[in-house]
Amino acid sequence: MKSTLIKNGTVVTASDEYVGDILIEDGKISMIGRNLDVKADTVVDASGKYVMPGGVDQHTHFLFRMDDSRCVGWESSSAAVCGGTTTIVDFVNQEIGKSLKQSVDNYVRDEIGDQACCDYAFHTVVYDPTPELFEEIRHLGDPDYGIPTMKLFMAYKGQPYHMEDGAVLKALQEAKKVGVTIMVHAESAEMIATLQQQTMDAGITGPYGHAVSRPPIVEEEAVKRAAYLAELADAPIYIVHVTAKGAMEAIRDSYAKGVRIFGETCTHYLTVTTDVLKSTSPENGEFEGAKYVCSPALRSQEHLDALWEAVKKGWLNAVSSDHCAFNFETHKKRGLGDFRKIPNGCAGVENRMQMVWTYGVETGKISKQQFVELCCTNPAKINGIYPQKGTLAPGSDADILIYDPAGDYTITKATSHHKTDYEPFEGRAVKGRPAQVYLRGKLVVENSRYLGTEGEGEFVPGKPYGLAYQK
Ligand code: URP
Ligand code: ZN
Ligand code: ZN
Ligand code: ZN
Repeated sequence: MKSTLIKNGTVVTASDEYVGDILIEDGKISMIGRNLDVKADTVVDASGKYVMPGGVDQHTHFLFRMDDSRCVGWESSSAAVCGGTTTIVDFVNQEIGKSLKQSVDNYVRDEIGDQACCDYAFHTVVYDPTPELFEEIRHLGDPDYGIPTMKLFMAYKGQPYHMEDGAVLKALQEAKKVGVTIMVHAESAEMIATLQQQTMDAGITGPYGHAVSRPPIVEEEAVKRAAYLAELADAPIYIVHVTAKGAMEAIRDSYAKGVRIFGETCTHYLTVTTDVLKSTSPENGEFEGAKYVCSPALRSQEHLDALWEAVKKGWLNAVSSDHCAFNFETHKKRGLGDFRKIPNGCAGVENRMQMVWTYGVETGKISKQQFVELCCTNPAKINGIYPQKGTLAPGSDADILIYDPAGDYTITKATSHHKTDYEPFEGRAVKGRPAQVYLRGKLVVENSRYLGTEGEGEFVPGKPYGLAYQK
């Protein structure tokens, strides 16, 4: 592969910011520093732009099913790189009756095929908590698996992936023996099921019922329970998509007490309030709000403020998209008249970096270094793919985002790569845009336009004993 020299950009990593140059050879960063005196086949002038690691989004569902709906899949993975994210960590759902290994192999063959536009690592998701499953956890960190993270859903009573506390405990006990990190979706399934019925009985059947039946306390309770389970197992635990102030405080306080508990939040929980669930439109009436149904539910401003404080202070250590691209017409509308049937999840992999930059860096809530730490470096560390991914350093993959802070951009369906029939962040004006994105040294995006080749994304095996074991 030809060499590329990116010159005069403002290099930003989780620890540094300086005007410098980066030499790319054979898909890797070979040199980085100020005023590099080297020649290259291609020289790119990045003056006035920020040169950062490609994003690592550790929470995407390119396959998720809720009742009869399945979200948009890997045919839309160019959305990741177009938004500056060069690696995703995607959830692979265990097939009932099959091992994790078989489920992953089938997923790669049947779902990804030759469509991947970004690099990818995996988390497994438990559906079938058999003795064989708990035995298999011991192998997840092996080099031939390379999947040192596993998720269990404490929420979603009635869905095949809902797990009881006993399964979480057993998973934690096995996982800690081999450095696998257990992740949980922490919401009380029982409380929610009861509240949902009561909300329906009270005549609240539209999308806002989703928030009414999933108040912050159902998340806070489950996070506290997860912390106790981790304490009991003496194992680390990672809480995905934290949304509520009390849940975040429970993580912070349990960690201070000695429990190795960590958590992420997501773009939308930092930037959108619960009011959107009450949206109306001429076409859809009050069902318009279904476009924003995701779990946990969106929160009030008080929670958004608390989450920004948490990411600034490191109480939550990553920002993910929870990309789960359900369509409005074919998926969300299944919940007309009963909010419980609205599939949970929204597209967002393309918007994460620009949204966090705009609402975090541009407003002064977080520094540029923290932006890189939250969106690139920590997710790579948590999933055992650092320093191959998530940083700019000699030997790292040349996954590079050149961000033009002056580039105006409005998020809209017409220019999106999500391949969905609506955009949750429709109409948001964001500051800056990906001017160029390199995937292992290859230019794949220019001014938000996809230039890559489907199928060039590669699997990145993760190593066990990620960040949750190190702190
Ligand atoms: O609403 C959401 N978050 N959908 C995706 C599945 C999950 O719970 O992470
Ligand atoms: Zn249960
Ligand atoms: Zn979840
Ligand atoms: Zn999710």
